[in-house]
Amino acid sequence: MSAATANRNGNGAFTPPCVGLRLHGLRKSFGAVRAVDGADLELRAGGTCSVLGPSGCGKTTTLRLIAGLERPDAGEIVVGGRVVSSADRFVPAEQRRIGMVFQDYALFPHLDVAGNVGYGLGRKPDGGRIREALELVGLTGSEKRPVHELSGGQQQRVALARALAPTPDLVLLDEPFSNLDASLRDRLRQEVSQILRTAGVTALFVTHDQEEAMSIAETVAVMRDGRVEQAGTPEEVYLRPASRWMAEFLGDIEVLPGDAADGRASCELGSLPAGDVSGDCDVLVRPESVAIGVSGPSSAAHAKVVSRRFFGHDQLVGLRLESGQVICSRRLGFPAWHPGDRVQAWIEGPAEVLPRTNGGSPPGRSVAEQQVAVAHDDDVA
Ligand SMILES: Nc1ncnc2c1ncn2[C@@H]1O[C@H](COP(=O)(O)OP(=O)(O)OP(=O)(O)O)[C@@H](O)[C@H]1O
Ligand SMILES: [Mg+2]
Repeated sequence: MSAATANRNGNGAFTPPCVGLRLHGLRKSFGAVRAVDGADLELRAGGTCSVLGPSGCGKTTTLRLIAGLERPDAGEIVVGGRVVSSADRFVPAEQRRIGMVFQDYALFPHLDVAGNVGYGLGRKPDGGRIREALELVGLTGSEKRPVHELSGGQQQRVALARALAPTPDLVLLDEPFSNLDASLRDRLRQEVSQILRTAGVTALFVTHDQEEAMSIAETVAVMRDGRVEQAGTPEEVYLRPASRWMAEFLGDIEVLPGDAADGRASCELGSLPAGDVSGDCDVLVRPESVAIGVSGPSSAAHAKVVSRRFFGHDQLVGLRLESGQVICSRRLGFPAWHPGDRVQAWIEGPAEVLPRTNGGSPPGRSVAEQQVAVAHDDDVA
């Protein structure tokens, strides 16, 4: 049944048709290893979601549970509005209307392109549907080509066409681009993202690449220790991280000690809204939200430039604040800042205030401290 119509779930209740995928309290252990440990996620029908997380956090296992290749210990899985797995229901993999694309393409070498794409379409595959699927992935007219003659990128498109040909309710992609070189990978991921949107299919991608995760999907889910730590739009998870761990996992972050009262937090770089946080807090700021200038707002901090790395389009400027804390500012490539420059620094852009956690994450060196260490800069105030 398609996601466009309401479905009756295993308990006889209706699930709204707009649910593309829902995981609730999903659990799976292998012996003593809790591979998936209470994962929750909800995706609208037709939505795309990328799944990120450290190695071993349960991404592949989650995909295999959704596909029906593993049986969960607990929890519920809804695909296209239909309960496919719960305490009293287990729909077999071949009846789940799910397409899968793997890192290694998993094509059949003895079949041509049409044979591979038509594989999931039954004994007498519909040639029209194969043509449509190949057109969708930009391989029109390739039906008769042997798959071993195709480039890596073309093979991955065939794998995608094969997954899409049976018009699935959901497509699962497990690191689909990680075998491709950087430039092809960049091009193909944008294309695949567009193809999935055009097909209007709900899709879940696993990737290790944070930029890829944020640039191709409308939702990013970050997994940690078998759970979804945070899911939201790319902007939400990057700019409004729910925890210090999330902030550190998803890019460079500086953490300044602060003090919050009456809805505002103050830290060395000034004052900012604190929501309902009060007392000791951490102010989490991305280097691109740290502004510098020869003069700044009255609340700006005095700082000394201690290092600089120039990347062409931008530069990372290491700053030592009067407290001695070293932080980093990411600026456009101009004007150039130099070690020894006296500047003012302030927050300009999103920053997050969280209650002080005292070691919610390992006390790794900040971006700027690492940079200073590399530069061996001894011109430090
Ligand atoms: N079939 C299995 N038997 C035993 N342990 C398993 C099995 N499959 C996965 N695991 C364990 O479950 C945990 C989660 O594995 P999973 O493959 O889901 O991680 P992942 O997030 O996909 O990691 P990666 O990013 O390295 O691909 C790991 O500790 C792994 O060793
Ligand atoms: Mg994996």
